Amino acid sequence: MVKAFGYSSNGGPDVQEFLDLEMPSPLAGELLVEVRTAGVNPVDWKIRSGMLGAASPGDLPAVLGREVSGVVREVGQDVDGFAVNDEVFGNVAPGSGGYAEYTLVSASTAAHKPPQVSFHDAATLPVAAATAYDGVSQLKLDEGDTLLINGIGGGVGVAAAQIARDAGINVIGTASEDKRALVESLGATLVPYGDGVADRVRQLLPDGVDAIFDLAGGDGLRAVADLLSDREKLITAGDPVTAGELGGRMIERDGTGRVLEIVGRLVAEGKLDPHIEDVRPLDEAADAIAAVEVGHAKGKVVIEVSS
Ligand SMILES: NC(=O)c1ccc[n+]([C@@H]2O[C@H](COP(=O)([O-])OP(=O)(O)OC[C@H]3O[C@@H](n4cnc5c(N)ncnc54)[C@H](OP(=O)(O)O)[C@@H]3O)[C@@H](O)[C@H]2O)c1
Repeated sequence: MVKAFGYSSNGGPDVQEFLDLEMPSPLAGELLVEVRTAGVNPVDWKIRSGMLGAASPGDLPAVLGREVSGVVREVGQDVDGFAVNDEVFGNVAPGSGGYAEYTLVSASTAAHKPPQVSFHDAATLPVAAATAYDGVSQLKLDEGDTLLINGIGGGVGVAAAQIARDAGINVIGTASEDKRALVESLGATLVPYGDGVADRVRQLLPDGVDAIFDLAGGDGLRAVADLLSDREKLITAGDPVTAGELGGRMIERDGTGRVLEIVGRLVAEGKLDPHIEDVRPLDEAADAIAAVEVGHAKGKVVIEVSS
């Protein structure tokens, strides 16, 4: 049997439970992966809660987690480029979850783990770092431009700050004070969010900013939107409704292994550090997701499933 952490109905953290599941079998285009590390992301609790759509009974019980690293144990039909015993990282296949001893990964959204990259770091790349890469690329900024990352201290923000910095972009980010050391270590300028945030940015940048990559949404996004005149340069990863009202748009995800190879290479070259701040064993999966669900995660949280 496979030990996993998931839920049998949509709801709050109280619906979460450990599950004993049959060993999954890869369909065409899928890999069976023995999980080493699972990344923890806000989307995990959003799916569990039902806010992204109610789970249909046929999909339950469901396993939490969208991204993993691990070792390929079986290869489904019609898969090229992956073999048993390959060390990989990627997005889990539809209907699968990452907080588990074994899971299914879509080969089209998987990549080989570079040997220099740890399983922990690799597990953080498919959701947070790949989103960061997609967002920074989509903004098409020039060297010397100024990017405001709204919510710089979490998984996507920390990665986006490093990717933008390496492209010669000046990065300024909103975060709470306790993230100052982390944010400044990324070469970015921290502006505390809350009342007066736009004025604090204007004290540093009287003409405002060239782009906003929003990770906070809602009133946090409204509070900074006027710093940007060209709303084509406003993207969000989490709140398309508010971004749309303000003339911005949702990030477009590439969703292929190509971007995973790029961000994996950045980590291997020492240009991207996901800043894992919290590693929990699978037995503490509830604490791991709670650390993200509270909304103030620092860098990345991961679950070490096996070592
Ligand atoms: N569309 C996609 O493909 C995609 C992919 C990845 C993520 N996302 C979404 O993007 C968002 C961010 O993801 P993440 O992984 O970076 O989340 P995370 O790791 O939980 O980090 C969120 C960060 O936002 C900060 N924050 C909270 N309220 C804020 C406010 N009002 N102003 C500025 N910062 C604030 C938090 O810390 P402090 O408050 O302590 O500073 C925290 O560091 C989530 O909504 C997630 O679902 C979407």
